[in-house]
Amino acid sequence: MSLHSPWRADFPGILALETEHQTYLDSAATAQKPQSVIDAITGYYLHGAANVHRAQHVPGERATRAFEGTREKVSQWLNAPDPAQIIFTHGATEAFNLLAYGLADVFQAGDEIVISAAEHHANLLPWQQLALRKQLTLRVLPLADDGQIDLQQAAEVVGPRTRLLAVTQLSNVLGGWQPLARLLELGKAHGAITVVDGAQGVVHGRHDVQQLGCDFYVFSSHKLYGPDGVGVIYGEAQALKQLRHWQFGGEMVRSATFESAEFNPAPLGFEAGTPPISSVIGLGAALDYLSGQNPTAIAAHEAALHKALLAGFSQYPQVKILGQPEVALVSFVVDGVHNADLAHLLTEQGIAVRVGHHCAMPLLKSLGQTGAIRVSLGLYNNGNDLMRFFNAFDQALELLQ
Ligand SMILES: Cc1ncc(COP(=O)(O)O)c(C=O)c1O
Repeated sequence: MSLHSPWRADFPGILALETEHQTYLDSAATAQKPQSVIDAITGYYLHGAANVHRAQHVPGERATRAFEGTREKVSQWLNAPDPAQIIFTHGATEAFNLLAYGLADVFQAGDEIVISAAEHHANLLPWQQLALRKQLTLRVLPLADDGQIDLQQAAEVVGPRTRLLAVTQLSNVLGGWQPLARLLELGKAHGAITVVDGAQGVVHGRHDVQQLGCDFYVFSSHKLYGPDGVGVIYGEAQALKQLRHWQFGGEMVRSATFESAEFNPAPLGFEAGTPPISSVIGLGAALDYLSGQNPTAIAAHEAALHKALLAGFSQYPQVKILGQPEVALVSFVVDGVHNADLAHLLTEQGIAVRVGHHCAMPLLKSLGQTGAIRVSLGLYNNGNDLMRFFNAFDQALELLQ
């Protein structure tokens, strides 16, 4: 397999792993970072760290400019109308917790929250716990056999009692796009607040939040070739006004006395305390890096990896792929073989894949599985990586079957 990646050389992490004979196929968990991201983070420390939004001094202004520059870049990346509609959190998980806490007041007992059967725990548990606290009903959209949310059944579940609809754009297990436009239309037709988990979707192609028309769109930097420690919430302007402040402290407040306080609106009102400055700056560098690449070439490479991965698996009748993956993110089980045994043998041969329930236990259960092995590729993966994987897979199966 040729499948050359012209981007590979930009990612020192993948090259370092290669010299260790490690084949990294776990980018859906977290991606490797380009040199420019690493340089941006170290540059911030090497040239003098400073806190943001607080100081008049030169390093403080420089840090603030870089930090707010990332907000603008994220806003452009998602085509948000205004950078002020971008809130930084410490990750996607924190973003969902912020939303579940911040929106609590809009619900009345008996209201319904609708999620899908494909959700990561991050877009399930905050809503489940809110529902328990506020006596709401959590309803779950079932999936059709191909792993897509069943739109016919969705039309029966989403209704006038639906106060919020929170769905994934691309499942971290199934690797297929959900029919988001139709789902969001359905939710909005019933006046529901709509939340999209873009943690995996954001990595593949560009997504325009205005075109999507969702109220909130969430993702984590570290899957999009940026550093960990920072997540993003895009909020539609009116929807943001419904959010109650959730963490209290420095910088989120306009004025404070011992008796009361007046809070800032979004975004600063939801970024209490010192934010993850270096990570936000690193995210800005990741977006610069991606913006500097040819999107058609990236899409073609990812499509070729996806095709080669599926073609490889098609040689094994005993392999069952979960759902119908549309990107190079494939979860599978092998008839008669225990996932943990297979994963162990792959690990022994230097293949870094993910095994387990992928933080989506209810999804795995609904598919009749307790776990699966997931292979997920980034733009730096190449044909050699796939060859190494399938060689190791062959050897493991020889031992296990
Ligand atoms: C679909 C999906 N949603 C949410 C998350 C949570 O992201 P984080 O762990 O960065 O908070 C993940 C992470 O794996 C994910 O794949």
